[in-house]
Amino acid sequence: MLSAPVLTTNTHRTAEMAPTATANFDRIKELKQFDDSKTGVKGLLESGVTTLPRIFVHPPEILSDLKPGKRHVTIPVVDLSGSYSDDQHAAVVEDVRRAASEFGFFQVVNHGIPDETVDGIIGAIKSFNEQPPEYRSQYYRRAVGSGVSYLSNVDLYRSKAASWRDTLLAALSPNPPKREEWPEVCADAVPAWDREVERLGGLLLDLLGEGLGLPAGRLSETCLDGRTLVGHYYPYCPEPDQTLGISAHPDPGALTVLVQDQVGGLQVKHNGEWIDIEPVPGALVINIGDLLQIMSNDAYKSAEHRVFANSTKEPRISIAIFINPSDHESMFGPQPELISPEKPAQYREFKYPEFMDKFF
Ligand code: OGA
Ligand code: NI
Repeated sequence: MLSAPVLTTNTHRTAEMAPTATANFDRIKELKQFDDSKTGVKGLLESGVTTLPRIFVHPPEILSDLKPGKRHVTIPVVDLSGSYSDDQHAAVVEDVRRAASEFGFFQVVNHGIPDETVDGIIGAIKSFNEQPPEYRSQYYRRAVGSGVSYLSNVDLYRSKAASWRDTLLAALSPNPPKREEWPEVCADAVPAWDREVERLGGLLLDLLGEGLGLPAGRLSETCLDGRTLVGHYYPYCPEPDQTLGISAHPDPGALTVLVQDQVGGLQVKHNGEWIDIEPVPGALVINIGDLLQIMSNDAYKSAEHRVFANSTKEPRISIAIFINPSDHESMFGPQPELISPEKPAQYREFKYPEFMDKFF
């Protein structure tokens, strides 16, 4: 189990070398050099780097907030085994509704996805990232939207500081990559994983919709068909107190289904405080995205979350599938059933691409 890195002063660097994110150095040039290596942060380690290059150093106000989560608070673990049983269904709906309203994050167990499929996707992402650098670099590209992209930091040129992780990214639906576009180690595992996540995502959207009192199928029919996969690899970080694995953010889409290995390091903000999301064997992490918060007219919460840089020798692997609408023409907004004189619409309507543009 990873806990927050112990904060130490950076005694091995002199004051004028202090690599703050605001320091006056040719940041763009160093970002480009890193990007052009096409082998991610794993490649830095492979080339013998033992200290953190300064493009990865986060600003002091972020670093001083890197603390272990508030103790004794954990996100709910919801048992889905009763979701298809007449006498337990209502209780499952209530568990899901409460978790989505209070935390915006929960774990699910008895979700029906076989262990082999979970192990298969984690193994595939790990294995791709552990191929030789010359192999990985063939897949490295910053363009996303179609096909398969291997890259480090989707927001490399936009963020204040880079984070210590590499990612394999692909839009899975409605137009999935062709089989031959995938690295061989992922070609079976990813579609198998997506089939399960599509089924589970549909079930969760139905339970979440029922919890809001929406007509059956409303959310699963409108929000399920634009899925994107990110398979993250968080290698050992030599200076985990100076950077993050992924910086604090909400997810923009409707719903995220995340599988993580047992290394840990994921946190969610709840009532202004960070809490740890401890890996639960066999469980998946589910979170509400901004779009579902909006469609629910603020009944459900899209919560900020982050991942510490990995201080353990064992790499951390996590795979998220972002569940989004594929319809880019219709209007999205608070559902009419959830608007009333007591609870007026908290958001205006928008088309999904306009919303994503604003987010990024
Ligand atoms: C993400 C994300 C968390 C993790 O990809 O948006 O929050 O544990 N990932 O990798
Ligand atoms: Ni996220």
